[in-house]
Amino acid sequence: MKDGLYIAFAPLQGYTDSTYRRAHAECAGGVDEYFTPFLRLEGGVPRGKDLRDIDPDRNAGVPTAVQLISRDRDEFARLCDAVQALGWQRVDLNLGCPFPMQVRAGRGSGLLARPDRLAAIADEMRRRPDVGFSIKMRLGQDSADEGIALLQIINDMRLVQLTLHPRLGRQQYKGAPDREAFRRFAERCRQPMVYNGDLLTLQDISDLRRQMPALKGVMLGRGLLAQPWLLSDRQPLEVLSDMHERVYRHATATLCGDCQVLGRLHAFWEYHTALLDRRQLKAIRKATTLARYREAVAPLLRRQGVAEG
Ligand SMILES: Cc1cc2nc3c(=O)[nH]c(=O)nc-3n(C[C@H](O)[C@H](O)[C@H](O)COP(=O)(O)O)c2cc1C
Repeated sequence: MKDGLYIAFAPLQGYTDSTYRRAHAECAGGVDEYFTPFLRLEGGVPRGKDLRDIDPDRNAGVPTAVQLISRDRDEFARLCDAVQALGWQRVDLNLGCPFPMQVRAGRGSGLLARPDRLAAIADEMRRRPDVGFSIKMRLGQDSADEGIALLQIINDMRLVQLTLHPRLGRQQYKGAPDREAFRRFAERCRQPMVYNGDLLTLQDISDLRRQMPALKGVMLGRGLLAQPWLLSDRQPLEVLSDMHERVYRHATATLCGDCQVLGRLHAFWEYHTALLDRRQLKAIRKATTLARYREAVAPLLRRQGVAEG
């Protein structure tokens, strides 16, 4: 099915942390590259939580692109310094986050209407020839003209690839991805292109490929959260049970108290709409102690019961 097609696991803040990414790589596979949720500055320095998630030991053996979000060259340079100091040579720039707080600050899709700032970031990239940079972007914040207007700057960049999620920032996740707008952008873009947005099944991927044979690849987010086994040779239940065991062990070993642990475990199941019915999801969400939680998930997993915390 892959036949040379590059497949990336999209970054999903709150879901695809290093434990999840590693669990997926070890138990399911089929993904060429995992993108970290964006790393950002807080009070002028990279967030400690974000840095811990990209600790090289935690990510060993998992092909990873570290994603940054920044509003200008200075923020970008500071984040790159921190990431490169840890040994990373693969960095992705977020030009797509639609959250109002980030957009208002000129980050994510808020940067798409600021060609001057992107040009300065492009200069900063040129100063770092050892890093393989990529961009993950939307069509624009308010209009697809914004992305098109950036093409001259983007075409002059030295990028590994450009991922385009063909919605506007102001749409957030509403409305269908606009494939025609993707095509218009791709026709004039000289970077290897990756398509992202609402690819949920293998059929979706092969249909898209027939429509756009020149694509370097595809990036899947919620489709893989719902069916982590989608690209795997293994059985769904095996993948799910093995991944859950790893996430469960890590959560109980590193987080404090049932409440925090359960928060992480609830996130594991939240997008599993392919396998869970509403009643099962409700039972998991309602579990307020680990003992209750184990009871709720036991029937869903391959082995009865899960590792005792
Ligand atoms: C909960 C959530 C968190 C996300 N976090 C990020 C992020 O950190 N960086 C990013 O570039 N995109 C982020 N996205 C966007 C996804 O990477 C992806 O572009 C989007 O979900 C569309 O792809 P999909 O339809 O395959 O899920 C997030 C999306 C969701 C729903």
